[in-house]
Amino acid sequence: MALKTLKTETRGRVAIVTLNRPDALNALNSELLGELRETLAHFSADDKIGAIVLTGSEKAFAAGADIKEMQPKDYVSAYLEDLFEGWSAVSNTRKPLIAAVAGYALGGGCELAMMCDFIIAADTAKFGQPEITLGIIPGMGGTQRLTRAVGKAKAMDLCLTGRMMDAEEAERSGLVARVVPADELLATAMKAAEKIAGFSLPVAMMVKESVNRADEVTLAEGLRFERRLFHSLFATEDQKEGMGAFIDKRKAQFKHR
Ligand code: HXC
Repeated sequence: MALKTLKTETRGRVAIVTLNRPDALNALNSELLGELRETLAHFSADDKIGAIVLTGSEKAFAAGADIKEMQPKDYVSAYLEDLFEGWSAVSNTRKPLIAAVAGYALGGGCELAMMCDFIIAADTAKFGQPEITLGIIPGMGGTQRLTRAVGKAKAMDLCLTGRMMDAEEAERSGLVARVVPADELLATAMKAAEKIAGFSLPVAMMVKESVNRADEVTLAEGLRFERRLFHSLFATEDQKEGMGAFIDKRKAQFKHR
């Protein structure tokens, strides 16, 4: 793949996708979206990949949707092209996807991080939904995923004032899973991704599918869905191997990796 806005690399069973528009603080334009969709589809289809890390630069994960590309649009063109619907490909990625965030994650950048399964943040990370300062509202899930992640009070605060919150506040409010020193960000995200990629892939994918259900359905429906997936795993070789390895006091060698 000849990519202009991304860099990709694989290390063992982990793919690393790095947003790479340094002159624009990784602002998310349509070219980047196209390349990211293609890249995620490629790694999703690759049996040798068990987890994906999405990251940016030291200065910015992404400073939002590309304002220069968006500025000339009118209502009809935005509606007809269903502007930003294409980003749902990221949240629809079925393999585990970790966001490793340093620097700015603003607007669409914060929303992109929230489309991943969890966020590991550098202590330099800054999250925000500054769309209101541009005369728009978040359009890729900022009012929805952020509210589910941090609750109404803080989501309202961030979306209405447009202020940024630092990594410590983001961790305290439940937006990010871990905060690490900036120079340990990629190594920490890689270690988590390698751990996940060492487990059974269908099991990891079912964990993801089931946790995501929690945002979508009632508790009773979610519990039923979880239990049905749980039952189905007793039909797999990896359940036999995982439990057998525990009993034999050896490391499990999962078949479906
Ligand atoms: C296009 C952007 C950009 C963006 C930065 N740049 N953010 N270009 N779209 N979102 C460009 C700048 O124009 C500049 O280009 C270069 O990147 C460096 O940015 P500076 O502003 O010079 O850097 P700095 O002074 O360090 O300030 C960093 C910053 C600021 C605080 C992050 O860039 C900023 O406020 N950016 C916009 C943040 C934002 O509003 N994001 C939300 C976008 S709306 P030149 O050519 O001048 O050097 C959005 C909508 C979501 O995301 C709705 C659905 C997706």
